[in-house]
Amino acid sequence: MKKNAVALATSLAVGLTIGLAGTAAMAQQQSVEVLHWWTSGSEAGALNVLKANLEKQGVKWNDMPVAGGGGEAAMTALRARVTSGNPPTASQMLGFDILDWGKQGVVADLNALAQKDGWDKVVPPALQKFSKYNGKWIAAPVNVHSTNWVWANQAVLAKAGVTAEPKTWDEFIAAAEKVQKAGFIALAHGGQPWQDATLFDSVAMATGGVDYYRKAFIDLDTKTINSPTTEKVFQRMAQLRKLVDKDFSGRDWNVASGMVIGGKAGFQIMGDWAKGEFVNAKLVPGKDFACFRFPGTQGTVTFNADQFVMFTLKDAGKTAAQQKLAAAIMDPGFQSTFNVAKGSAPARTDVPDTAFDACGKKAIKDLAEASKANTLVGSIGHGHAEPASIKNAFYDVITRHFNGQLDDKKAVAAMVSAAKN
Ligand code: GAL
Repeated sequence: MKKNAVALATSLAVGLTIGLAGTAAMAQQQSVEVLHWWTSGSEAGALNVLKANLEKQGVKWNDMPVAGGGGEAAMTALRARVTSGNPPTASQMLGFDILDWGKQGVVADLNALAQKDGWDKVVPPALQKFSKYNGKWIAAPVNVHSTNWVWANQAVLAKAGVTAEPKTWDEFIAAAEKVQKAGFIALAHGGQPWQDATLFDSVAMATGGVDYYRKAFIDLDTKTINSPTTEKVFQRMAQLRKLVDKDFSGRDWNVASGMVIGGKAGFQIMGDWAKGEFVNAKLVPGKDFACFRFPGTQGTVTFNADQFVMFTLKDAGKTAAQQKLAAAIMDPGFQSTFNVAKGSAPARTDVPDTAFDACGKKAIKDLAEASKANTLVGSIGHGHAEPASIKNAFYDVITRHFNGQLDDKKAVAAMVSAAKN
C-alpha cells in the first residue's frame, strides 16, 4: 500500500512537472513576426529594445527586415505576403499607406487595448489620423521623426572656417561652399529617390513656407505647384546637387551619415534617424556634431511617424502575442529608451524628455510648438500626402531633375502632371 502510494505520488509529481514544462513550452511558443526596414546599426539597435522586452514576456521575435530606407522595398514585400494570405503579425508603415491597408479590411482592431491603455489621450491627433481607420485603432505609433534637419561635423566646420550656424538659405550655401573649398565634401548624400525627396521636403518648406507646402503638396493644388516658387525650389535643388560628391548615386543614407561622422563631409540633410547613427558612433551633440533645422524652416516641422500596423491573424495564440506587441510598443518606458536610440521623439506626449540629448530635447520641443502653431505637417517624401501613390510620382520627378534629366521649368510641369494623376 505504502509502496503504491509513493509510486502514485511520484507519478503525479512527474506528470505535474511535465504538465508545467508543457505549459511553459507553449507560452514560449508565442511569437510575433515583424516586417520593417530598420537595417542600419542604430535602427537595428533601437528595435532590439522591443525585441528584448517581448522576449522577457516569453514572446519570440521573428525578424523580417527588408533593407531600403524609406520603406519602398518593404512595402512591396508586405504586399506579396498579405495577398498570399500569410500576413506578418505587424509591419512598420508610414502615413497614407496605413489607411490604404485599413481600406483593404485585413488589419486588426486594437480598440479594446487602446481604450484600456488610454491611447486616445496621449497620442497627438496628427498621428491618430493615420493610426485609425473608420474610428478603429489599427496601428501602434512608435515615434515621430522629422525630416527638416541638418547634421554637421563640428571639426570639419571649424577647419573650413564656418563659425556660426547657417540660419538662411544663403548662409547655408556660403557655409557649404567654404567646406567644399577646404577640401571636404560639402553635402553627404545618397542618390536614392526617397533621399532626394527628403532634400526636396526641406527645400520646399524653406522656399515657400508652410502654407505653400500644404497647398502644393498635401492639397495637390496644381495652381500653387505651377508657380515661380516651385521653380525656385528646383533651382535650389540644383544648387544642392553641386555640393554632393561624384559617387553619390545609390548610396545608402547611413553611409552618407558615416561620411559626416568620419570627417569626410561637412553636412547631411536628413531626418533625425541620422542622429541615431551619430550617437551609435559615440559622437556627442554640441561637441562633435551639430543638429539644426534646415535654414528657413525654423518653426515648422515636417514629420513622419513610424507606426506598426497589425494584421488580422487566424490563430488565437498569435493574436494574443500581437496584443502584447502592440502594448509593448505603446509602453512609455519603452518609447523613451527606443527613441533615445533611434533619434526620434516619442509618439506619446506624456513621455518625459529627461533621457534625451540636446537634439532630442529640441525635437520634442519643436514638435510641441509646431503642433500648437499649426506648422506641423506630414512629410511628402515619407508618405504623408494622399493618395499614397503620389509619393512615387513625386519621387520620379525630383530624382530625374536632381540627375539633370529635367530642367527647372520642365520639373515644375512634371510635378503638375504628377499631382493631376
Ligand atoms: C524612414 C523611417 C525612419 C528611418 C528612415 C531610414 O522612412 O521613418 O524610421 O528608418 O526611413 O531607414
